[in-house]
This record gives sequence, C-alpha cells and structure tokens, in this order.
Amino acid sequence: MSPTAKKSHAKKTPPAVQAAPAPAAPREHAPLRITDTSLRDAHQSLWATRMRTSDILEILDVVDNVGFYSLECWGGATFDVCMRFLRENPWERLRQIKAVAKKTPLQMLLRGQNILGYKNYADDVLDRFVALAVKNGVDIFRTFDALNDNRNLEQALKYVKKYGGHAQGTICYTTSPVHTVAEYVRIAREQEQMGVDSICIKDMAGILSPVAAQTLVSALVAELKVPVQVHTHATSGMGVATYFEAAKAGAGAIDCAISAVAGFSSQPPVETMVSMFAETEYKTQLDPEALKRMNHYFMKLRPLREPSHAMPLIIDPDILEHHIPGGMISNLRSQLAQQGALDRLDEVLKELPAVRADMGYPPLVTPTSQIVGVQAVLNVLSGKRYEMVTQETRDYVRGLYGRSPAPIDPKIQKQILGKDKPITCRPADLLKPGLPGCVDSVDPKLLKGEEDILSFCLFPEPALAYFKWRDLPPGDRPPIPADEEMKEKQKKEVPSAPARPIMAQSD
Ligand code: CO
Repeated sequence: MSPTAKKSHAKKTPPAVQAAPAPAAPREHAPLRITDTSLRDAHQSLWATRMRTSDILEILDVVDNVGFYSLECWGGATFDVCMRFLRENPWERLRQIKAVAKKTPLQMLLRGQNILGYKNYADDVLDRFVALAVKNGVDIFRTFDALNDNRNLEQALKYVKKYGGHAQGTICYTTSPVHTVAEYVRIAREQEQMGVDSICIKDMAGILSPVAAQTLVSALVAELKVPVQVHTHATSGMGVATYFEAAKAGAGAIDCAISAVAGFSSQPPVETMVSMFAETEYKTQLDPEALKRMNHYFMKLRPLREPSHAMPLIIDPDILEHHIPGGMISNLRSQLAQQGALDRLDEVLKELPAVRADMGYPPLVTPTSQIVGVQAVLNVLSGKRYEMVTQETRDYVRGLYGRSPAPIDPKIQKQILGKDKPITCRPADLLKPGLPGCVDSVDPKLLKGEEDILSFCLFPEPALAYFKWRDLPPGDRPPIPADEEMKEKQKKEVPSAPARPIMAQSD
C-alpha cells in the first residue's frame, strides 16, 4: 500500500482486524497479587517434595526481589519430608529462609486441627506449633480443613491471630450435589465471622473451571469484606483461564509457580499469567529479569530433583471426569503394585467416587484423599465393599475428622461402626492435651529446643530418626535417604515411578 493510498483510505476502510477501542481512562485497579508456590506446592506436586534447603537458599535473594505478594515455602508435606528423606530440620529451613527473604511475607499451608499431619491434634499442640511457626518466620497461615468443617479451623485461626499472623481461611473446592455456591458462601462467611484476614479458594485437583471460578469468586466478593485469593493446579489445563476469569471477577491474588516447576499437577506458570494480565488493568508488578533468573536456576535444578525424567503428560484430561488429584493416583498405583494388582486400577478409579459418595462427598485433599483412596482399593481387592475397613475409615465414619459435607450413608455407617455411636462434637474436644509427657521416651540430649518437641509430637518416627542422625559426628552420619534414592534412580536407566514409602500428598 502506497503512503498516499493509506492517507486517502485510512478513515474509510476499517482494518481487517479491528483493534479494541482504547478505554477513555484506564480503570484504577490494585495490581494483581501473586503468591509464589515454587518453594512448596510446586515441588510437592512434581518432585515428591524433594527440594532441599540449600536449593532454596541459593536462589532466595532473587526470589525475594521478584515482587511476589508472598512465598509459600512451608507446611503441607515439606515438614515430614525434611526429616524423613532430607535429614533436615524443618524449623531451621524456615529460620534460614526468613533470614534472607526480608521483603516478601512467608506463607505456610496449615491443615487446621490436623496441623501438618493426617489426624486431629490436641489444642495445646496446635497452640505451641503456631506460636513457634510465627516466632521462626511464618507471616501468612493458609488454614484449611479437608471437610470444610469450620469447627476444625476455630482454634487454628484463633492462635494465628493471637500470635500476630495473617489468618487466611480456606474453602476446599470440590463438586458434588451438596457443594453449591450458596454453601461455599456460607462456609466463607462463617470464617469471616471467625476473624480471617482473607479467604482462599483451594482447588487442589485443578477442576475449578473458568466459568465456575467466575461465579464463585463473584459471589464471594459480593458477600465478603475480606479479599479473595485463588489456588489451582494446572492438571486439567484449565488453570490459566480459571485465573484470568477469577481476577476479572474480583480475586485479588492468585497462586503461581515459576515455569520450570509449573504446569501439570503444579500451579500455572507465573510468566504466562504476568503476560496475560499485562494487557489488562490487573497488571502485576513483578520484575521480569528476576523471573528469568529464577526460572533459569530451577531449570538447571530440575534434572537433579525430579523423581523421574520422564514427564509423560502435560495435561491429564481424565481428571475432569474422576476429579482425583495426581498425587493420589500415583498412591493408588503403588498400593496396587504392592499387591500385584495393578491391572485393577480401572476398577479402583470407578469405586473411588462411590466411596466418596458413601462418605458424604468429602473434598479429596490430605488426609481425606488417603482415607477414601485406600478404602476404595480395599473394597475392590477384598471383593466385598467395606468388609475390610482401615482404622482411618472407621475414625472418619465416627466423626473423628469432623462433619462430612453430606450425611454418611447410614447403612454403611452402621456396618462399619456396629454398636459404636458417631460423635457430634468438635473432634479435638475429645483429645487430652498432647504435650505433657510427649517426649518422655526420648533421650533428652537429642532434643535441642521446643521446636524439636513439636517435631516429635507431630512425626515421632521420622523426627527420632533425624535427631539420632543429627547427633552423630558429621563424618559418621549415614547418607541421607534422598541421596540414596538418587543413586537408585541413576542406576536404573529406565524411567520409573518415584519410590514413595509414604503417601504422596495432595494439597
Ligand atoms: Co495445591
């Protein structure tokens, strides 16, 4: 086109692709906040939680300067894995992170009354745990209950406030006949009345669709005074669109991971979201150069820490159908493999939603994901449903994990409990204080402080193994289990599933 032609036609001929009209004045909008999950959920989802403290410290100064709203770097499975596989002190990890990351608030994932474990603990344990977590550096406590039973959050939220932390309430997102928008709003409002500073929609399986996010976030924003954050996983591939809709609907913050540890069962990549939002009024204010350095670092670390180099899937569309988090399926697989029954996985995947329905539709997140998963396997392998029942299933049916979202099937409840009656109170009300006498069996010279007492109280076996290892002169310490795993991995040329002596955890 000649310049003259351009001149003469410029006003008359519309361009083939019409540019969107520029808004007269850009809407004022607070920058979208991004929580980085690279140091917790991302490696819990992709690397079986094997990121080490030294891995974190090497890049932490850069991470701290990206401009993230918060760094999720503690809680979930990290605490257990630190001691069990890395022979590290989780409290020391927290202190070392805090000593470097001075700009960005540190965030942990707290399983409410379950603290970091798989059952309810007594209030005195929870109280001291929160006190020490604040003292050692946690600023924001994302606090959830697997059943969305707010009674299991009451004390945790109270202690977080008492010790000066930011108490984030949480809705564990799932779908079922009883999980309606109105019900989620009710749960969130109750948490607001309990004093939370913000609310997170926690979609641990990556099944929150963009449309559902739009609807749910809009409803929460309309009904709540506190800000709303969204947490999803990239498993189904919807996560990026889900965040886009969530932010437009008023979510003030989203959770992302740096792209080297993003995608699939981890969070959506931060760089993608930054680019997408750059053209909107929901701009983020992250430093692109720091993001590049961070990604470069984790790309180099990846082959060392990934349990298997084979990353066979980018997207798992099946999750849209069965809603089972990735970590859970690998558990089911290894459980079945141990019994020589791997060929029955399909039956288990069919049985699992049926067990979940019987149990009153619990969201599948640690520890309910393990309870329901193991029971589904037993139902299939024993040939008769609920003929064999784990202690955890029995406890669940008795109400010892809290109130199920819908009533448990009464016939199955009776079959499992016999004459025992289910409880109706808050489960922790039945627990005696957990701290008195808790370390009586431990040689006092192994304990270096109150933090060690809490570690032992939560995870007696791995804590003791770690204390004994730590007590040896450095030259006499046996190799750490994670290094042994790496040697095994290098021996086998064939990519294999990671050795997971404990349950992979999905939260
Ligand atoms: Co998660």
